[in-house]
Amino acid sequence: MIKINTQVGIVGAGPSGLLLANWLKKYGISSVIIELRSREYLEGRVRAGLVEQNTKDILKQLGLDARMNKEGVVHDGVYLSFEEERIRIPFAELTDGRTISIYGQQEITKDLIDAWLQDNGALHFETKATKIVDFDTKCPKIHFEKDGEEGVLECDFVAACDGFHGIGRKTLPKKSFQSYDRTYPYSWLGILANVAPSTDELIYSYHKNGFALHSLRSEKVSRLYVQVDNDDSVDNWSDDRIWSELSVRLGTPGWELKEGPIFEKGITPMRSHMIDNLRSGRLLLAGDAAHIVPPTGGKGMNLAIADVKHMVDAFVAFYKSNSEILLDKYTDDALRRIWRAQDFSNFMTTLFHKQDAHGSFTYRLQKAKFDYLKVSKAYRTTLAENYVGLPFESFEI
Ligand code: DHB
Repeated sequence: MIKINTQVGIVGAGPSGLLLANWLKKYGISSVIIELRSREYLEGRVRAGLVEQNTKDILKQLGLDARMNKEGVVHDGVYLSFEEERIRIPFAELTDGRTISIYGQQEITKDLIDAWLQDNGALHFETKATKIVDFDTKCPKIHFEKDGEEGVLECDFVAACDGFHGIGRKTLPKKSFQSYDRTYPYSWLGILANVAPSTDELIYSYHKNGFALHSLRSEKVSRLYVQVDNDDSVDNWSDDRIWSELSVRLGTPGWELKEGPIFEKGITPMRSHMIDNLRSGRLLLAGDAAHIVPPTGGKGMNLAIADVKHMVDAFVAFYKSNSEILLDKYTDDALRRIWRAQDFSNFMTTLFHKQDAHGSFTYRLQKAKFDYLKVSKAYRTTLAENYVGLPFESFEI
């Protein structure tokens, strides 16, 4: 039986678990990370790539933004298309200079793993957390299995950053929360292609054939998505079909979509999941373990990072000032932002996806929203400030 101990036991080496470990270290708070997957798997897993201003600020504050500054692309606006009409939302201008960067989530994961291991941080890959116990006492424990051997990690707190299918969410006592779910009746087919982006900023588009999004990863790699049915399969989507559908759905007069070799194809379902409690005793949940948003607007990782900020504040208050006030407020502090993002992700999703017959009442409401964006600076500002992410102070009460 392997026995380890630390102050904060972290389950999951995604962006939230890794950031938490790196951040706590700056305050002299020790942690150990247990991760089910291999390093190669984590670093290769393709995810979204939209980094909000707050996330950038945190990475900068921790000195973890060097590669992002070099390889990421800063955007100060976004294009929105409806049928064949395209407008631009200049979000930096509307939000006092706040911007987003495009930098793949797996690149952030790589940077955080590197930083943590360079600092001799403890990170156990390919280690399965089997149960979390005693989180209603001062000495919670994470039981795990590594290379066929059993072990236990004793800690003061457990941070469950282990995603929707992880053990953290399953361990939270059922009586302690209510959950809320919404499944959207469509999915995204996402591709990565070796071709220069056909746009300098992202394009979200409504078309009568369905939603499309043009994003990018670098000067040479484009990331694009099309709305597909939930029961669709990548086998139904040849490269030719994907390019021709993207070209139709993103098309505006005088604009052309460049095509290139596709090297990654995958389908992502769209759903929302919420629980109204993120903590039980000394077990705290962050990221996808606690909430899922539909991908439109790229909030998933940014919310996970924001949860970690609240967690760090709470742990620092506990260890440095012997105060449990922020631990007690953790759920409420995190949920205010999470619900805001849930609403914004729903807004972006329902504005740009084909939900009902073209020309239906629902379609007319979508069109009315788009038309309102054209005439109202207030409405554009609302979209912009949510898109770049509201500052933490906005949610303080
Ligand atoms: C990306 C994904 C999103 O969901 C989004 O809204 C914007 C960009 C991306 O993968 O680049």
